[in-house]
Amino acid sequence: MNFDQFRAEFPTLRDKAYLNSGSYGLLSNRVEAAFRRYLDDRLERGADWGQWVDNADAVRDGVAALLNAHPEEIAVTTSASAGINSLASALDFTGARNRVVVSNFEFPTNAQIWHAQAPRGAVVQHAPETEDGDIPLEAFEGLIDERTKLVAIAQVCYRNGSRLDVEGIVRLAHARGAMVLLDAFQAVGAMKVDVRALGVDFAVGGMLKYLLGTAGIGFLYVRRDHVQALTPTVSGWFAQADTHAMDIFANDPAPTAARFQAGTPPVPNCYAAKAGLDLIAEVGVDPIESRIRNLTGQAMDRLIQLGAKLATPRDDARRGPQVAIRSNDENALVAALAERGVITSSRDGNVRAMFHAYNNQADVDELVAGIEAHRELLAR
Ligand SMILES: Cc1ncc(COP(=O)(O)O)c(C=O)c1O
Repeated sequence: MNFDQFRAEFPTLRDKAYLNSGSYGLLSNRVEAAFRRYLDDRLERGADWGQWVDNADAVRDGVAALLNAHPEEIAVTTSASAGINSLASALDFTGARNRVVVSNFEFPTNAQIWHAQAPRGAVVQHAPETEDGDIPLEAFEGLIDERTKLVAIAQVCYRNGSRLDVEGIVRLAHARGAMVLLDAFQAVGAMKVDVRALGVDFAVGGMLKYLLGTAGIGFLYVRRDHVQALTPTVSGWFAQADTHAMDIFANDPAPTAARFQAGTPPVPNCYAAKAGLDLIAEVGVDPIESRIRNLTGQAMDRLIQLGAKLATPRDDARRGPQVAIRSNDENALVAALAERGVITSSRDGNVRAMFHAYNNQADVDELVAGIEAHRELLAR
């Protein structure tokens, strides 16, 4: 599928420069039809349990292909948080390795859940940002040691679009005997997330944003050699070796990452998520990533020329699909841009312009023109 065909899938783009894909990806015709198919199937067939379970497995297969993982390493969850919670429940914090290092680039959930393990013995340490908004490898070097169980890091920061040095952090953590959880939510679908090449132990994400599916569905990747060594203490019948065993006298966890699941899969969301994953696969992650890199790079160069200060590093290797623009009143600037049909969002003093491959040159022009017209709202 070429980029014009891809763009034509999204009716919202007819009259909006939509730059908010890191909050919610746009609804495509394909995903809308998938939701309708769910309702049609319900009306026509009444019950179709087999199809529902098959759809959840199709999502598992799609996520595995996307991440370069095996389907047996993927749990289909109801959110990224659900995946992190299930993983946390399987970790033992009573021994000498009881520390979790998180970066200050984390989305709250990937720090809060680790703090929530304090009554179970976990101690959370934070890798801070430098003044110029970076978290260099040295910040982790001073924290990761023989007491570290897990390093929990976002691939791309939701507030400013910065990318952490994931490979460097993984090398460091593994050399010191710690595991790494990657929160790929602000990257997956917009750029390559190859769990094998990155070497991470675990990864989470969801289908709401760049994967173009919906809210209420996510995934957890667990590297194969960890699966059977970890037994979650949150569970349910969809976490069992045999969902249909109906054994109320034992917990018999699946030999696969399905052991990190719980109850009935998020059925309507599986229809939508599969359609979104198919769209991404048809366009291809590499072309998507390079188109986004070009569009965001152009936007950054033109905004810098206008005198805007950016919270996102200009270096392509250090950023994801977001351009974060420093503002003295980010909510006013988001509202002013929305009046012109340019849809952005705000966080932490920044206006976030979050691109997908369905955006085009005209969207960059609209953003730059909107910022130029409201220069008074830029940070000095
Ligand atoms: C980086 C990141 N992690 C986690 C989340 C939350 O995921 P969920 O609501 O599926 O738990 C978000 C945004 O919603 C996010 O941007």
